[in-house]
Amino acid sequence: MTKAMEILNSLTLEEKASLTSGKDCWRTVDIEGKLASIMMSDGPHGLRKEESGGTVPATCFPSSATVANSWDEELMYKIGEALGEECLANDVQVILGPGVNIKRTPLCGRNFEYFSEDPLLATKMACGHIRGVQSKGVGACIKHFAANNQETDRFSVNAVIDERTLREIYLSSFEEAVKEAKPWMIMSAYNKLNGDYCSENKPLLTDILRDEWGYEGLVVSDWGAANEPVNGVKAGLDIRMPGPVPSANAAIVEAVKSGKLSTEELDKNVLRIIELVEKGIKGRIADYKADMTAHNDLAMKAAEESAVLLKNGVLPLKKSDKIALIGAFAEEIRYQGGGSSCVNATEVSNLLQSLDDKSIDYTYAKGFKTEDDSVDENLVSEAVAASEKSDKIVICMGLPFRMESEGFDRWTMSLPSNQIGLFNKLSTLGKPIVVLLFQGSPVEMEWSEAADSILAMYTGGQAVAKACVNLLFGDAVPSGKLSETWPLRLENNPTALSFPEKGTATYSEGVYVGYRYYDKKHLDVMYPFGYGLSYTTFEYSDLELSATDISESDTLEVTFKVKNTGSVAGKEIAELYVEPTYPSVSRPVRELKGFKKIYLEPGEEKTVTMTLSKRSFAYYDVETHDWQVDTTVYKIHVGPSSRNLPLVASLKVTSSRSGKTFFTTDSRVYELNANPISKEALNKLLTEDLKLDISALSIDLPLSKLVGFSGGILSVDMLDRFVMELNEKIK
Ligand code: BGC
Repeated sequence: MTKAMEILNSLTLEEKASLTSGKDCWRTVDIEGKLASIMMSDGPHGLRKEESGGTVPATCFPSSATVANSWDEELMYKIGEALGEECLANDVQVILGPGVNIKRTPLCGRNFEYFSEDPLLATKMACGHIRGVQSKGVGACIKHFAANNQETDRFSVNAVIDERTLREIYLSSFEEAVKEAKPWMIMSAYNKLNGDYCSENKPLLTDILRDEWGYEGLVVSDWGAANEPVNGVKAGLDIRMPGPVPSANAAIVEAVKSGKLSTEELDKNVLRIIELVEKGIKGRIADYKADMTAHNDLAMKAAEESAVLLKNGVLPLKKSDKIALIGAFAEEIRYQGGGSSCVNATEVSNLLQSLDDKSIDYTYAKGFKTEDDSVDENLVSEAVAASEKSDKIVICMGLPFRMESEGFDRWTMSLPSNQIGLFNKLSTLGKPIVVLLFQGSPVEMEWSEAADSILAMYTGGQAVAKACVNLLFGDAVPSGKLSETWPLRLENNPTALSFPEKGTATYSEGVYVGYRYYDKKHLDVMYPFGYGLSYTTFEYSDLELSATDISESDTLEVTFKVKNTGSVAGKEIAELYVEPTYPSVSRPVRELKGFKKIYLEPGEEKTVTMTLSKRSFAYYDVETHDWQVDTTVYKIHVGPSSRNLPLVASLKVTSSRSGKTFFTTDSRVYELNANPISKEALNKLLTEDLKLDISALSIDLPLSKLVGFSGGILSVDMLDRFVMELNEKIK
């Protein structure tokens, strides 16, 4: 018998029930002589451990939205390790993060805390984070499960999402991270999903999470997300936080006594709690000291690797340039967002100090206020005067802290008008302008034409200013790429007409989230998903596939070459997208299915290999409730961004699904026309057998209607046979 089982067997019913809610805001309940208590703290991008006097000092790493721009799982792993070490040093057993909610809209207030609009990128980053933390014997807690994609009405909004969209977009990162990285904990979200609170949602917390994905860890409620206690236990919620909640414990005891809840049901949850506590206790290291200097260096490195060069005419600057440093963010550096993730940083350097440290000559002028959008003419005049005396202007713009936080969504995608006004004024001076952007999510850039260079730092953590200076002067080379699309304007986002909805949020755009939408609609964007420049240039060549005809169970090796064609060393993120040519259901034009970050010296060329498997080609089929691959030709696109894919090759993938009914007598003409095999068969049936010209008829016509239109030639039996033979052919 395992130790956890022995402990379980030693507990009274009341003791078991008491474990299902927290001891206080952050700790699990201990039971004297039987079970210790462990501590959880926020995450995700730094430790936020609350103590009586406030929160302990900790390294504030770049937020998840920022590190996702590095597309570097290894870097995320290192940050995870550092987070784990700071937990060990502070006797914290579980750190609450990463958050893998998908960015449905640029306005979600917590976008700075989430990785991406793309599930694959979010998955890889989440896996790096979880593995890094857990390599230290500390637990990670992936959150918020699931579909917590807005802050408006977050405690009760009902996210209505169709099954395919849920699986392909909103559950996918949870699924892969749970399977690959095995987080100790998963946090159930506040909101409802398709009618039921996530924290009482058996299909979500048990049927999908445990029975299908094989999750063996613990489910904790988001703080205050649990509702009716017995329903929670039955659904698979293990611990409600915060605690204590004596009434909930009493309700559980009562339910077991009355037979409403079986002892076996409760024991399953309690066993998971005991196992978590045991793991946490095992990981403890007395008097552990984390290397905070090394962590600050890592925070700086991560900020460098995650910065995205959006536009470049004048960078890197020369150290001898006479610089006007403009904008309040140079001083009040914007390095993280508001809410539960807000870290008490060990040290925060601003741009002024960081430039001083490198003995760079500059004149600083604040330029605008951050507390509101009003224009302070004195500040503007000072900024103009400083700029007039300079060779080059570096202006620090972005979203003030007050605009990005947990608890509310952004109300606009625009930068504050006082910043745009100042930029426009300075751009008339005829001096080169470099914009440093500090923000956790995309902003509208209608003013940006006049900027010579733009470097997006996102919410870059406590050492972001040092990273900025290194990047500005070429001591570091930008290598980040956007983990989300920057649309031209908010109205181009598919949620623009309805967001934010209260009560019920209907995800009517389906799988068309982020670039999946903009590509399908052929919309121009400001900056595409996966886009980012460097101080050097790269060339792609020699795309090869290991086969051009595979079955869905085979793997495919894709190789190509990337060469650094510029004069400085740099890192390139190579991206691979898959496009199905004749999908049986509506699908995005192409989807990210692989990526790699490669370091290249000037002139150096490397061969990159990526492996694709069934899931790279599959969609979630709502008939079979499973991932399915269409038998069709797929194009493999490779290149530097989702909208710049110079290499392409094709292959046929054959589904191994037997007995799949591709078509029925209810299938529409347009559905058959979407696949060359069925299109040809239908054409033959219509022109040769039925001599029927359906061009005048709707393409929406179900096949069954052909019986009536065929003037008696086509019988129901004949149509059944036609469909059967067609399905055989297509299999
Ligand atoms: C947030 C979680 C956080 C928890 C504990 C909640 O309001 O949604 O992300 O981990 O509080 O602070």
